[in-house]
Amino acid sequence: MIIRHLALTNVRLYARLELDLPGGLSIIQGDNAQGKTSLLEAIYYLATSHSPHGTSDRHVIRWGAEEEAPYPYAILKADLQRRDGLHLLEIGIQRAEGNRMRKEIRIDHINRRGIDLVGQLAVVLFLPGDVDLVSGAPVLRRDYLDDALSQVDAGYVHSLDQYNRALTQRNALLRQAQERRIDPDELEVWNDQMVPAGVDVALKRREAVGQLTRMAAPVHRELSGNREYLQIVYQPNFDPAAPPAATYQMGLDNSRPPDGMDSADLQTAFRAALAERQRDEMARGMTLVGPHRDDMRFIANGIDLGEFGSRGQQRTAVLALKLAEVNWMRERIGDEPVLLLDEVLAELDPGRRQSLLTRISDSHQTIVTTTDINRFDQDFVRKAAVFTVNGGIVKRET
Ligand SMILES: Nc1ncnc2c1ncn2[C@@H]1O[C@H](COP(=O)(O)OP(=O)(O)OP(=O)(O)O)[C@@H](O)[C@H]1O
Ligand SMILES: [Mg+2]
Repeated sequence: MIIRHLALTNVRLYARLELDLPGGLSIIQGDNAQGKTSLLEAIYYLATSHSPHGTSDRHVIRWGAEEEAPYPYAILKADLQRRDGLHLLEIGIQRAEGNRMRKEIRIDHINRRGIDLVGQLAVVLFLPGDVDLVSGAPVLRRDYLDDALSQVDAGYVHSLDQYNRALTQRNALLRQAQERRIDPDELEVWNDQMVPAGVDVALKRREAVGQLTRMAAPVHRELSGNREYLQIVYQPNFDPAAPPAATYQMGLDNSRPPDGMDSADLQTAFRAALAERQRDEMARGMTLVGPHRDDMRFIANGIDLGEFGSRGQQRTAVLALKLAEVNWMRERIGDEPVLLLDEVLAELDPGRRQSLLTRISDSHQTIVTTTDINRFDQDFVRKAAVFTVNGGIVKRET
């Protein structure tokens, strides 16, 4: 799919932007703080109806707009060319009474819910801060999986939502358990909702990580000049298929539950794990088992990059994952996602840089940003449309 036109009103520093975009490569160049990242984030917002890393909606609205109107708003629009024709996506965000935020999503002029955005605009976004995906807290990796799956699988969005709702209620009940005796049957009510939804979430995450690691390994080998072999290993919290940390042998396939285990078996295992930890959960006032505690690890040549990887190695692993995600999304939705790369060349040695540029230079639609266009080789720049952004104004150069 290709974004043919992007229109922003009051989005971050963009008071008003009307931008035609070509297929293939685009380079957005500009000094610091001129709007490069904001532009990519706006496209990501149109795909997911939230900012990357869960930044609050209120920060999307241009600060100046708040002084001009009591209820400031932002509007994001994209004209999309997909396999199945032309489409228009629109998201409006407005600050309403009592500091609440209102959001309206329209697809082809019809009001829709957030879940209806699944499969509309698919994007893969790389931000410089994504290196933390490898070494940062597990919640970053869970969010990554949730965001990737939520773009391609409406069933996943539904299960995750159901799981999180039940989890919140269950935690509230467990907090009460610290002060009063609670009836275990009350917990059961939430377990009945949490367990099937949680198993669905865990199975889909496991399958996705398996597919992603298969696709990322060859990309990573290429980026690292055949020096490293990457594995991404899913570490589910409750299910008995979780590999102990010591089993990172080469080629380990963790993408399916162990032999003969189906969803019903996993639900039984999840319930058993909950029962076993019930006393603990009541004492600590929170749910201690379930996919809200999942993790995944990045392993290169048997070494856990989260703990022992160099910054460049971590960056290469995340890039391999994101480039693999492009293929993964194409397989899942039958259309090409838009690739958004923010300052992607920083911290990479010349070899890794070159293989990255080669890999993306034939892409469907890719938008890369840079403060310094000389970081790209001339062939690459010749193939690309070049834009300059300055204080929220974008101008096409070539
Ligand atoms: N809601 C907002 N309203 C107005 N300006 C904002 C808003 N949110 C962020 N900004 C500002 O927009 C400017 C551009 O930010 P952006 O991250 O897009 O810059 P950039 O071109 O990517 O810079 P860098 O090269 O440093 O990464 C920053 O100065 C930021 O403070
Ligand atoms: Mg930036």
